[in-house]
Amino acid sequence: MQNDLLLKALNHEIVPRPPIWLMRQAGRYLPEYQKIRQEVGFLDLCNNPELAVEVSLQPYKRFNTDAIIVFSDILLPAQKMGLELEFTEDGPRINNLISNEADIKKLQIPLANEETYPTLTAINMLKKIAGEKVPIIGFSGAPWTLFCYMTEGYSSTNFYKAKKFLYTNPQAAHQLLSKITNTLFLYLTMQVNSGASVLQIFDTWAGILSLEDYKTFALPYLKHLISDLMPLKVPIILYANNASHLLPKLSMLKVAALSLDWRYSLQDVRDNFGTSIGIQGNLDPAILLTDQATVREKTKQMIQSIKNWQVGYICNLGHGVLPPTPIENVYAMVDTVFEFANEVVMA
Ligand code: CP3
Repeated sequence: MQNDLLLKALNHEIVPRPPIWLMRQAGRYLPEYQKIRQEVGFLDLCNNPELAVEVSLQPYKRFNTDAIIVFSDILLPAQKMGLELEFTEDGPRINNLISNEADIKKLQIPLANEETYPTLTAINMLKKIAGEKVPIIGFSGAPWTLFCYMTEGYSSTNFYKAKKFLYTNPQAAHQLLSKITNTLFLYLTMQVNSGASVLQIFDTWAGILSLEDYKTFALPYLKHLISDLMPLKVPIILYANNASHLLPKLSMLKVAALSLDWRYSLQDVRDNFGTSIGIQGNLDPAILLTDQATVREKTKQMIQSIKNWQVGYICNLGHGVLPPTPIENVYAMVDTVFEFANEVVMA
C-alpha cells in the first residue's frame, strides 16, 4: 500500500507525521455530495454501491486523506434485522420500535452477503479502485448504540426510553443486545473479507450510561464482538463519546485505538493508559466552523499536546464534520497535518 501511515500508527510504529482522516468526511458540507443527494434519498444512496463508492471517494479526492471510510450508516443493520427505517429532515426514524420479547423474536440475524448489504459490494469496489493507495475503513455501531436507536426510534439527548427498557426488562434487553452483537459480528467479518483493512466501531451513546450499567449492558457485548473479530487480524478503532468515566474499562479492550471526543486532554489519556493503546481525535468539530488561521493553530496545538505523537496517534475530529463546515477549513486542518513533519524538522 502506497500510504500505510494509518496502519503504521495503529500498529504503534513510528511515523513521520500523524495520519489524518475525518469522521463524516463524506457528507452535506460537500457540494458534490449535495448534488447527488438532490437526486437520491439517503438510504438509497447507502444501498447503491456505485453511488456509495463515488461519495466515499469525494473527500479523498479533495483532501487526500490517509484513509477512505465506506459511505453507509450505522443504522442499516437494524433495518436489515427487520426495522422500518427512514431518514427525515430531523434524522433517523424507526417506525416499528422494539418494546418487548415478541418484537425481539421477530428480528432476524441477517446473513451478511452482498445482497443483504450493498455496502459490502461498495467496499469491494473501493478496495479495487483505491485499496493500493490507502486503507479502506469499514464500520458499524456498537451493540449498545444500536440498541438505543432500536428502542427509542430516533436521535435523542438522553435516550430515556432505551434506558427504561434496560431497567424494566433487563432479560429482554440482553436478548436484544445479543442478537445485535451476532448481526454485527457477521457484518463486520464480511466487511473485512470484502476489503476493509481497518474497522471502526461507533459507541456514540456510551456516555449516557453509568459505569455500572455500561458494565452490565454494553461492555460484555462489545468485548465479545471485539474478541470474536480478533482472528481477522484487522486493527479496530473504538469511538466512545463523552465516556471519560468508562475509559479505564474501554482501554482494556483489545482495540488498536480509542477515538476520543474533544473533552479529553490527549496527554492525560496517554499518561493514564500509556502507548499500548493508540489514540485518535479529538479536535472539536465546531473549530472547523471558524477560519483557516484558527483551524491551523488549533490543529497544531492538538498534535503538540501529545509528547509522543509519533507513536500510536491518529488526527481526527472529536465527532463528525458538521454540515455548515466551510470546505477551506477542512483543507486547512488536513494541510496542517501534512506540513507538520516539515515544521518539526525545521523547528
Ligand atoms: O464519512 C463517513 O464518516 C461515513 C459515513 C457515516 C454516516 N453516518 C453518514 C451519514 C458514518 C460513519 C455514520 C455513522 C453514524 N450514523 C453514527 C455514529 C457516529 C456519530 O455521528 O455519532 C450515528 C449515531 C449515525 C446515525 C445517524 N445517521 C444520525 C443520527 C443521522 C442524522 C444526523 C445527521 O447528521 O443528519 C444520520 C444521517 C447521516 N449519516 C448523514 C450522513 C452523511 C446525513 C444524511 C443526509 O445526507 O441527509
